[in-house]
Amino acid sequence: MTLRASFVLLLAVGIATAQSNSAPARKNSSVYAELARAPRKAAARPNPLEDDSEAVAAGAKLFDLHCAECHGEMAQGGKKAPSLLANEVQQATPGTLFWLLTNGVVRHGMPVWSKLPEPQRWQLVRFIKSLGPAHPPDANGEKAPHP
Ligand code: HEC
Repeated sequence: MTLRASFVLLLAVGIATAQSNSAPARKNSSVYAELARAPRKAAARPNPLEDDSEAVAAGAKLFDLHCAECHGEMAQGGKKAPSLLANEVQQATPGTLFWLLTNGVVRHGMPVWSKLPEPQRWQLVRFIKSLGPAHPPDANGEKAPHP
């Protein structure tokens, strides 16, 4: 290959790389993109407190204590963090939400909550789910989170 040909090739590769780098601009919908990264096994984990009638109230207290300052009193979203009433969150499986709390999204400002004991994290999941979908649930056959 001539020197000139390899230069042209390098240039082409460079342009292609630059284009693919500019593609994933942070759209509004990608705020919740982390939820889609939950490993299948984690996402499939059922909430062990699904039938615990006190879990929602306990979760509400924990939310007040740890989450409301960023997500808002009613989880409606605030200056620092997005709404948890959004479909992306409401339609996530309990296991997915548990996984997200356990790992956080630190690079985007969502802390890790692995220091909270597991039952507390599951209580928070019950509370978030109890807020219900902002829109009617879709017909994908998932069990409604309401009692
Ligand atoms: C310091 C502020 C802050 C606190 C406190 C906080 N969060 Fe967040 N949270 C965020 C931010 C910022 C995001 C958006 C992350 C992103 O862009 O993916 C987020 C996202 C989320 C999401 C959606 C997942 C996603 O990828 O966006 C859930 C669910 C969530 N938080 C639950 C909680 C719960 C439950 C608590 C309390 C235990 C909590 N958060 C405490 C800042 C916070």
